[in-house]
Amino acid sequence: MLGSLLNLVIASAIGVAALPSSDKLNFLAERGVFAPIATSNPSGISGGTVQTAPDGAPVSSFFAGLKPPYPTNSWWASYAATPGNGTASGPFPYESQLDGYGINFGVSNSRQFDGTSIKQPTQNDWRAGFVEHSGAFANHKATAFDTHSVTVQYFQGGASLTSPLIPGSPYITLQYNAATPLLTSRNGGIASFNGQSIANGQSDSVSATGTEFTVVDTTGTTYLIYALSSITLKATATNSAVGTIQASGTFTGVLRVVRLVQSSHKALLDQYSSVYPTGVSLDYSFTTTQGTLIFNYATVGAGANLLMLTWPHHRLSLQSPNSPPTSSLGYLTTKGWMYPTLGNQWKLLYNLSSITWNPPRALDSSCNSAVIQGLQYEIGQLNVANAPIPNEFYYWGGTLAAQARLALIAEAVGQTALIPNVTNYLKASFNNWFAPTTGAFPAYETSWGGVVDKAGAANSGIDFGNGYYNDHHFHYGYFLTVAAVIAKYDSSWLAQHKDFINWFARDIINPSSQDPYFPVTRCRDWFAGHSWASGIANGAGSRDQESTGEAINGYYGALLWATVALSQDYVNYAKLLVATEQQGAQVYWHLYPQQSSTDPNNPYPEAAVRNLVTMGNVEDWQSGAWLFWGAEKSEIAAIQMLPITPINEALYDTQWVNNVWSYAQNEIVDPTIADDWRCVLIAAYSNANPQTAAAWSANLTTWGSGNTFSNELFFIGTRPNPSGQPICGSNFPQNPYGTFKIQAATSGQWVVSSTASSNLVASGSQANAGVFVSSYTPNAGNLKLTSNNQFVTADSSGNFTLQAARATASSWEVFTIRQKIGAASGVYTIKAGSNGKWVTLAGDGSLVNNGATESSGAGFKFVAS
Ligand SMILES: *[C@@H]1O[C@H](CO)[C@@H](O)[C@H](O)[C@H]1NC(C)=O
Ligand SMILES: *[C@@H]1O[C@H](CO)[C@@H](O)[C@H](O)[C@H]1NC(C)=O
Ligand SMILES: *[C@@H]1O[C@H](CO)[C@@H](O)[C@H](O)[C@H]1NC(C)=O
Ligand SMILES: *[C@@H]1O[C@H](CO)[C@@H](O)[C@H](O)[C@H]1NC(C)=O
Ligand SMILES: *[C@@H]1O[C@H](CO)[C@@H](O)[C@H](O)[C@H]1NC(C)=O
Repeated sequence: MLGSLLNLVIASAIGVAALPSSDKLNFLAERGVFAPIATSNPSGISGGTVQTAPDGAPVSSFFAGLKPPYPTNSWWASYAATPGNGTASGPFPYESQLDGYGINFGVSNSRQFDGTSIKQPTQNDWRAGFVEHSGAFANHKATAFDTHSVTVQYFQGGASLTSPLIPGSPYITLQYNAATPLLTSRNGGIASFNGQSIANGQSDSVSATGTEFTVVDTTGTTYLIYALSSITLKATATNSAVGTIQASGTFTGVLRVVRLVQSSHKALLDQYSSVYPTGVSLDYSFTTTQGTLIFNYATVGAGANLLMLTWPHHRLSLQSPNSPPTSSLGYLTTKGWMYPTLGNQWKLLYNLSSITWNPPRALDSSCNSAVIQGLQYEIGQLNVANAPIPNEFYYWGGTLAAQARLALIAEAVGQTALIPNVTNYLKASFNNWFAPTTGAFPAYETSWGGVVDKAGAANSGIDFGNGYYNDHHFHYGYFLTVAAVIAKYDSSWLAQHKDFINWFARDIINPSSQDPYFPVTRCRDWFAGHSWASGIANGAGSRDQESTGEAINGYYGALLWATVALSQDYVNYAKLLVATEQQGAQVYWHLYPQQSSTDPNNPYPEAAVRNLVTMGNVEDWQSGAWLFWGAEKSEIAAIQMLPITPINEALYDTQWVNNVWSYAQNEIVDPTIADDWRCVLIAAYSNANPQTAAAWSANLTTWGSGNTFSNELFFIGTRPNPSGQPICGSNFPQNPYGTFKIQAATSGQWVVSSTASSNLVASGSQANAGVFVSSYTPNAGNLKLTSNNQFVTADSSGNFTLQAARATASSWEVFTIRQKIGAASGVYTIKAGSNGKWVTLAGDGSLVNNGATESSGAGFKFVAS
């Protein structure tokens, strides 16, 4: 009585459930969903069409009767990708796997922490099928899919089992039609059925008739079976390891099967067992500052009584939740506790960033001249004649995207004359992509529907599996950033190339099921609250994402493209993707040792997990502080931070970046860790402490392919600055530039260079000292000996004497020359960019880059010549 009264109150509060069912369907249709970005056919792309082959092809029987485009990165991709029986990443709290006979599903009983990863290995508890089914693998298929769910059907003659598999449903829903239900235990035999024990090891059975049943397997795992119409079930212990539950005859009706973790959960599960979801439609609405993501669950039965489960990220955003107490139901998963909520409509509210091209505040004036000098230098390095040909997508796009930012920074600091030097270079490189004669060919993949690196369609080892739909949001986000920057300054270029670029935008942010060529928002798992990088390689088993920074920036690239090339709808959509991906990263990748173990929104109750500060990889069944390619703390954190762009302001929350700074400090000061990583940690830290970050950034001599000096310092110099102190300091340190003779401060000997070896040795008089031109590179410089017109080089081993022996300057010819700490003014140390070590003097006065610390570096005077 109390239950039904409560239901009525809830139904009227939400309003939907009171509608007649036909109106309800209209209500649930895609109301505000945006139209396709475009519908043009990508088959005319330069690389033509291609099919992933052989093992990435969809299982034709799974999509029988449906047409591509198909989702590739969804939690259930393993149902479809060859061989079609891999473990799917859901529907949580379950994981599942399809075989020829039915749907295998289970909730992991085990949660392990091995010091690096938290794991809940996948487990099958039961398989749902029916007696008449032959077990032929072809006799199951998808009948429908949407942004969250897939409906799977097993069929044989007139008998069928249809199951809408919907993440967040505590119950697995089984709709039988003229079929004899058969549940087979997969995790031990049956110990008891409806409270009656079944003798192990014998073919013993128990029958019961009704609408509710309880089964306990021999591991002690309990499931409830609800029948929405009366049924007779017989539980049989085939042997001690396998048991079955079979109906007495054919059944047309619905069973709902649910794992019961604690007996106290039974009341809630009983109460709401009769209302079930059949699909989900995604909707959204926007104000100028906020976006609401709406999940509309289509239900059979009163929608207000739909019992679902939320993850921590849902609970942070869910508006006006009608949620039973957490004590009434809960499942611990790798994303933390799933707790109950009621209702067929979820509204998740997110603040949207107003950031587009550049940060929301001007560059601190103390950084201005250093940024402009860096821009002039870095833009000067971009030679149109050497614009790269893409040989793959990932590094090429990431490098160009970093260079594209130079144009935006030039605009922000009033150096607009430099912009064409950047955009002409980007255009020249893109011409090699629009119409390639060599290198990577973009092609349209027709089995699933998407644009790929053509060579990768036959080889998942190429371009990180791009041809198998891995990492598209990373790769194409970079392309969209570059295209947006060119288009911002050249509308005729935009008009000419809009269709082509849109193919890549549609590949990752198509909002509409009406686009005939691309699936909806390929990588995003809307229920999980973030994207998956995994496509269809290896049977599409486990899902993972280990680069949240690039995921966020993929959608940021789409935001920039939408800003310049598309309507406000797609700007909003991209902003929502950015906001949600950032939230996902903060909830599941950023770890907060300070967070309470009993905070229900803490996904990792174990303090030891959170002490790892950053997850490297979040997968469906495990998450850990590791990467497929590296184990360093600095790399694990940096890959969640890069590329450095203005949109990251919200991502670099103070608590997390401070935690990373302390946790990775031993690597931040370790010269064997490349500046390419260090620069990323420094930039992120600047969001909390810009002055300290600026001082540290002055140590850097390389920024990796995805960052530049100008971008690093511009980012640092545009951070919130509550102290109001100059960010770059009044004297942002620089090398002494000009023409000099160099004197060792302690010995008084001058640096000469013997003609024979061109080695630098402090062993001469001022009269016979070498004359060196000291010129600018970002944060550092080159030294060129005028007598032989050769640059000074320092090899990376630090075993050899510096030599004036290189005609052109590259990374081994870069030196950071700074006032020596504690020495008289004008006495400098020289640090080699090649190995991050300071130049010392050997017994004979030879200059060698082997000093591990600043204090071990020799002091030198640079005397103008
Ligand atoms: C999946 O199917 C393949 C091919 O039929 C088979 O070799 C493999 O053992 C199956 N894997 C599982 C987990 O059932
Ligand atoms: C959203 O913005 C408002 C207003 O600035 C702020 O009060 C609120 O805390 C923000 N919410 C989140 C989840 O960041
Ligand atoms: C920009 O391009 C122009 C024309 O090619 C060139 O003359 C100029 O030196 C370039 N500027 C820089 C900073 O490289
Ligand atoms: C880098 O700069 C910071 C701040 O100026 C300094 O404390 C630190 O010792 C420097 N580290 C290295 C390795 O140069
Ligand atoms: C540098 O010296 C170290 C220690 O003697 C040695 O192991 C290394 O091989 C040397 N490297 C080169 C390039 O000579």
